[in-house]
Parts: sequence; structure tokens; C-alpha cells
Amino acid sequence: MNAYKLAVVGGDGIGPDVTRAALAGVHAAAARCGFSIEATDFDLGAERYLRTGVVLEEETVSALREHDAILLGAVGDPRVAPGILERGLIVALRVAFAQSVNIRPVRLYPGVESPVRGVTAQNCDLVVIRENTEGLYTGGGSLSHAGTEHAVALQNSITTAAATAETVEFAFQLAQARRGRLTLCHKTNILLHAGGLWQDTVDQIGQRYPQVEHDYVHADAMCQHLPLDPGRFDVVVTDNLFGDIISDLGATVQGGLGLAAGANYNPRGTAPSMYEPVHGSAPDIAGKGWANPAAAALSAAMCLAGLGERTAALILEAAVASVLAELPSLAGPDMGRSTEELGELIADRVSSIEAPQSEAGARS
Ligand code: NAD
Ligand code: IPM
Ligand code: MN
Repeated sequence: MNAYKLAVVGGDGIGPDVTRAALAGVHAAAARCGFSIEATDFDLGAERYLRTGVVLEEETVSALREHDAILLGAVGDPRVAPGILERGLIVALRVAFAQSVNIRPVRLYPGVESPVRGVTAQNCDLVVIRENTEGLYTGGGSLSHAGTEHAVALQNSITTAAATAETVEFAFQLAQARRGRLTLCHKTNILLHAGGLWQDTVDQIGQRYPQVEHDYVHADAMCQHLPLDPGRFDVVVTDNLFGDIISDLGATVQGGLGLAAGANYNPRGTAPSMYEPVHGSAPDIAGKGWANPAAAALSAAMCLAGLGERTAALILEAAVASVLAELPSLAGPDMGRSTEELGELIADRVSSIEAPQSEAGARS
């Protein structure tokens, strides 16, 4: 029997609740498909930081590295200055574990209503591939003359050929396995150096994928095209910050942040990949018990696919989709069930649903 060691970082706000609900689905999938999951909780996030002053130490990074995968809820807390946890934990782990590719599917499941008119399950199935370790996230910077009228902030962006090529290669492979279309999203009209490097990389690597058509859309224009014509896109490849922004836009199109899944993926397999929803810790609804756990559960399905448990991944994804299709509302108290109850419902559905034949979804 295959056995996997899963590190679980619930984190802050709604993170622990949605992660617990997702894990119920994972355990049900393991029981049904005949493998075992040894889940170990890691106490990381705001509470620990406020208690100890420590965000992430080397021993924890080493302990996480010993796992086959990491499931993360969300971090971020109004009591902690912005960036301490976001950069100190999430971005630090993405970099430490060389998770250079962030995979964020934008898929409207049948029976789920998009808030955007005209968007249907047939025309909304794309994947945002976001470079995950560079750009403005890790470029460094400085603030001089702080607090004076002469203050100047420098925020550097770094784009290397190596990380760009790794991301673009992954995106072409995915596009080849899907509908054969790749769109580069950037601001080549303003960010001349970085944009040029991205475009050159796509043009060069694209020569090895003659079956994949590729085009280009500016990031600002993407904010119109993605919601109004999602069917135009198959795989969208982009940099770290644009990918962050357009994946929240994609989340809205597919029904809301509570439904959008993601994987921080190490394509070389040199360290564990980390699976987390697109959403954050949602302090505005934390503790209320009505966060939608679908995004976390779909991220867990991507985790199972990443571990090689493809059937289990498809079953968990189908179970989440089937539960979503029954909800009277996709967020808030109108959902009619608590986060915990939805976790139980997803787990029950995993045990009873017919195994899907299709390879749709859960592609990572
Ligand atoms: P957010 O994604 O936490 O919330 C945005 C809105 O979406 C809120 O109104 C929230 O209630 C709603 N929402 C989010 N997830 C939901 C769910 N599962 N079900 C129902 N509604 C949901 O973004 P924010 O408010 O800008 O950020 C809050 C904190 O989270 C900040 O500290 C931010 O830095 C952090 N953050 C962390 C991650 C992460 O850990 N991966 C991602 C984004 C933001
Ligand atoms: C996300 C989040 C993170 C990001 C933050 C919390 C570092 O917004 O995963 O989308 O900006 O990448
Ligand atoms: Mn984000």
C-alpha cells in the first residue's frame, strides 16, 4: 500500500477550518483508493509569531522538507504587520522548496453559477501558470529618507532566464496536453526588459511545440478578456505579480475565491510541492464557520494528483463539484451548511460517487 507523509499548515483566519474540511476529503479518498496518508500538523502563522516572535526557522524548513507534500490553508492576520507572514512564510517556502510554477485552474463546474453573465462550464476551463519565485516578490528594495517629503521607495523586480524558461516550458507542456493554446500575459509595452525576456522565452520554447498556438495579451487588457471571454484562453502563462492578480480575477469568474484552487509546484521534484487555495485568511469572516472549503478541497485534489494518486484526485474533485452544484449560495451563511459540515459532505460523497472516467480537472 502506498503511504504518503503530508505536512499540514492550517495557518490563520479561515485557513485551519478549510484545511480540516479538505483533509476529511483526502482521508476518505485514501480509504477508498487504498493508500495511506500520515498527516502532521505544523503550528505556523500569526498565533505562533505573536507568541514566540518566530515566523519560520531552519528546523521547520528541514522538517517540512521530509514530507511528500504540504497542504496549506492561508496566512495573514490584522494583528501582524503586512508582509511578515506573507513574505516570511509563504514566499519563503515557495523559494526554499523551488516551487517555481504556480498552477491555478480557472474552471466553472457544471451546476455552479458564475457571477459573470454568459460564462458557462463549456466556455470556462483555463489554467493560469504563474512564475512563483521571482518578479517583484523577491527582488528586494529600499526606502530612503523614510517619513520625510524626500522619501524614495525602490522595489526591484528580478526576472531570470532560468526561472522564466522553467515556467514557460511547463506551460507549453500543459497546453500541449490540453487544447493546444498558450497566451503570454505581461506588460511588454512598459516593462521592456522583463517583458522582452518573457516574450523571447515564449518564442524560443514555442519552436519546440509546433502543435501549440501562442499569442500575447497585455495584463490590463486581460482584466477585460478573462471575465468576458474566458473561452478564448487555455493556458495563460505570466509573471508572479500579474499571476497573483489575474488568478483572483479568474476565481471570481469561476464562482468566487472560495472555489479557486492552486498548487505551488516544484517541477524538478527536488523538494515537496505545496498546495493551497488562491484565497487568503479572510479575517472578515474568520471564526464564523461559513468559509467555503471547496478551494482547499480542490487544492487537496491537486495534491493527490501530484502524489501520483490520479484516481483519488479525480474522485475528490468530482465529489467537491457535486457538492458545489447543490449549494444554494457559494459563500456566506446562505450556503446553508458550515465549513465543517461541507467537509463531511465532501468526504461522504468521495465514498459514494461513481469514479469519473474523464481526465478533466485535477491536472497537475
Ligand atoms: P482574502 O482572499 O483572504 O479575502 C478576500 C475576500 O474573499 C473576503 O471578503 C473573504 O471573506 C472572501 N473569501 C476568501 N476566501 C473565502 C472562502 N473560502 N469562502 C468564502 N469567502 C471567502 O484576501 P484579503 O482579505 O485581501 O487578505 C486577507 C489576509 O490573507 C491578508 O493578510 C493577506 O495578506 C492574506 N492572504 C494570504 C494568502 C495565502 O495565504 N495564500 C492569499 C491571499 C491573501
Ligand atoms: C496568493 C497570496 C500570496 C501572493 C501572498 C499571501 C504572499 O496572495 O497566494 O495569491 O501574493 O502570492
Ligand atoms: Mn493572491
